[in-house]
Amino acid sequence: MTSVPVKTDSADYQVHIGRGLLGSIAKEYVRLAGRVSRVFLVTSPQIERLWAAPVRDGFAALGVPVEVLQVPPGEGEKRLGTLERLCEELAEQRADRDSLLVALGGGVIGDLTGFLAAVYMRGIRFVQVPTTLLAQVDSSVGGKTGVNLRAGKNLVGSFYHPLAVFADIDVLRTLPERELRAGLQESVKAGVIGDPALFAYMEANTGTILQGDPNALQHVVEASVRMKAAVVGQDERENGLRMILNFGHTVGHAIEAATEYKALLHGEAIGWGMVAATRLAQSRGMLTDGDADRITALVHRNADLPRFQADADRLVALTGGDKKKRSGTLNFVLPTAIGTVELVRDVTEAELTGAVHAMLLEMHFGRPSAPLATTPWVHA
Ligand SMILES: NC(=O)c1ccc[n+]([C@@H]2O[C@H](COP(=O)([O-])OP(=O)(O)OC[C@H]3O[C@@H](n4cnc5c(N)ncnc54)[C@H](O)[C@@H]3O)[C@@H](O)[C@H]2O)c1
Repeated sequence: MTSVPVKTDSADYQVHIGRGLLGSIAKEYVRLAGRVSRVFLVTSPQIERLWAAPVRDGFAALGVPVEVLQVPPGEGEKRLGTLERLCEELAEQRADRDSLLVALGGGVIGDLTGFLAAVYMRGIRFVQVPTTLLAQVDSSVGGKTGVNLRAGKNLVGSFYHPLAVFADIDVLRTLPERELRAGLQESVKAGVIGDPALFAYMEANTGTILQGDPNALQHVVEASVRMKAAVVGQDERENGLRMILNFGHTVGHAIEAATEYKALLHGEAIGWGMVAATRLAQSRGMLTDGDADRITALVHRNADLPRFQADADRLVALTGGDKKKRSGTLNFVLPTAIGTVELVRDVTEAELTGAVHAMLLEMHFGRPSAPLATTPWVHA
């Protein structure tokens, strides 16, 4: 097992990464939390069936009662309605300030449970036990919690850190391959924004990683978590540096919104978003053709990114390009090499439109072999 520290202005905790961790959560949890009256395990029925037993048995062995709060799977549950139901259930079961929440699931369960922990009785303790690759490499670390509104994702929430994170590599065994591949895109992001060695490792070991080799997955999770912990440690509230974690997310979120969060998994939308941002950087001359090709090649090698229906104008509008008419230019996190990015504040709507067109052409016709700067669809 490896432990990666997360140190921010408001929190200091460990992300434990390894195999067979589920059974030892109770001991570690009780050691950290001190007095524990009850444990509430927030999970979906499927994950409960697959992975709850060792967690529950660990607490039972210490004489701590465990109740399960069930949340059906899917992004549709990350809503205020679910939060209210869970608060009512906690109150009915007389959960108190010494109660502990365990988020056992993917990013949806993690974000929802974190927010539940932040607001129930003005804040109780919780741990993250991420069961998807995306949640292990990204969403369980850094303290962003929240739910969606009709107007957009994650619009209501709070920065609220867990007491600890337990990323058990073994749970990824039951994860559908498409989910694994989508989660890898967040690790590609981590490589591009600050860890060229992780990027090169993923290039060299794609097959082994996709086969679910535990050592390879542990390496990817560990490096991604180190990257995220380093960024969050310097900028907990996203006032500056943390924005680099949004590489690929500006267009990615627009794709998710345009397809009503149904056609693509989050990581897949981010994959397309990274393609668009990479082509934008390339067309500005900020990134070499060689590095741009390496990034887009790895994105495509990790996942057969699904095609989606959305025209460029709609994607530009959803990205915020329409606002440009009023307020000038757009902010974008763009790579300057593999391992470094820049926050660029003067992207024009024409440039964004060019990059979105390039991405859509790539979706329909495959990766271009000619340098993009000379192709007709990129506007100067
Ligand atoms: N807080 C953050 O910093 C942050 C960062 C990135 C993403 N997110 C959020 O994360 C969410 C996406 O998370 P996700 O990709 O983990 O999706 P998810 O939580 O919906 O999980 C994906 C699917 O995998 C299933 N599953 C989970 N673990 C499994 C396992 N071990 N075996 C079999 N099936 C399993 C789930 O039941 C679900 O059907 C989004 O809501 C996104 O906004 C948050």
